[in-house]
Amino acid sequence: MDKVIRWGILGTGKIAKAFATALREVPDVELAAVASRSLESASEFAAQYGVKRAHGNYQALADDAGVDAVYIATPHAMHHENAIMCLQGGKALLVEKAFTLNRRQAQEIASLARERKLFVMEAMWTRFQPAMLEAKRMIDMGEIGNVRSLQADFGFPADAGPEHRLFNPALGGGSLLDLGIYPLSMAAFFLGPVKGVRGYGELTPAGVDMQASFVLHHEGGALSACSCSLSAWTPTTLTICGDKGYLRLHGRFHHTERFTIGLNRGGEREFHYPRIGNGYAHEAMEVGRCLREGLLESPEMPLDESVALMGILDELRAQIGVRYVVD
Ligand SMILES: NC(=O)c1ccc[n+]([C@@H]2O[C@H](COP(=O)([O-])OP(=O)(O)OC[C@H]3O[C@@H](n4cnc5c(N)ncnc54)[C@H](OP(=O)(O)O)[C@@H]3O)[C@@H](O)[C@H]2O)c1
Repeated sequence: MDKVIRWGILGTGKIAKAFATALREVPDVELAAVASRSLESASEFAAQYGVKRAHGNYQALADDAGVDAVYIATPHAMHHENAIMCLQGGKALLVEKAFTLNRRQAQEIASLARERKLFVMEAMWTRFQPAMLEAKRMIDMGEIGNVRSLQADFGFPADAGPEHRLFNPALGGGSLLDLGIYPLSMAAFFLGPVKGVRGYGELTPAGVDMQASFVLHHEGGALSACSCSLSAWTPTTLTICGDKGYLRLHGRFHHTERFTIGLNRGGEREFHYPRIGNGYAHEAMEVGRCLREGLLESPEMPLDESVALMGILDELRAQIGVRYVVD
């Protein structure tokens, strides 16, 4: 049960660094290898984070027999190609959000993972934050009664040029895949499967969504009102509403340590559940737990749900007129 998980990191950008930092606080792991498109960048990263091997191309990491699990930390548009390559190399995977560009790509990863009997999980770190898990437990115990609706937002004015991954259509740019995935995924986490979506978007001259607002219709009839923006600061809170009260996850909700419960009968109570370090350790621990227990998926972030949520994003992008070349 204490098997050491030998991690490989694919990509050396911002989130790769945050994840390498988080791994320092995870027990029974080894940072075995890192891969970059440039050996120089991989070597610099390896020196900074104490990684054993530096590879100057991604294929070398997929083929590295001394790696159990690969964390894919490239822009969304590369996730599909990178994931398929690593699965063919026999690796378990933690794939950054958004999982892929569309449902078809997500389904292909899920199918290959099942065929090869390899573990894959979308890196939706929010689902593993201690405050989030406690909020879910309290809601499931009936603390706010019968849950009927949810509101969530995620926005900031992005200081990035048109070539940056946030705005470049070739890299899967747009607010929905970068930020909207959080309200969407957490709405499904709290209110259950989504059976319909209606949305509006404001597009950039390059044709990706600068911002979007959408309503989700959940199985069972509950509704979620969500928004995301790359042009406006928003409180970035998430509120779940039931017939006995509400539970609000404070901003920024996606890695929050605090929530408030307010009940109809009066009074508000605040709860505090600290995360470990920068918050990414929790998803790495979940991968470790699943691998040690022989699970091929995480029950908290199952593959079929990642595929279904990419399908909702496909539908939403079709409604607001955002198309990627791979669609
Ligand atoms: N969970 C979170 O909180 C969180 C936060 C930020 C980002 N993310 C996700 O993580 C992924 C990466 O985001 P990031 O902010 O880390 O991006 P980033 O800083 O631009 O890094 C991306 C890395 O991907 C590699 N890459 C491969 N092909 C590329 C290309 N054509 N253009 C640019 N980079 C390319 C590069 O590594 P090499 O040069 O070494 O090959 C680059 O350093 C995205 O899917 C994003 O949604 C998640």
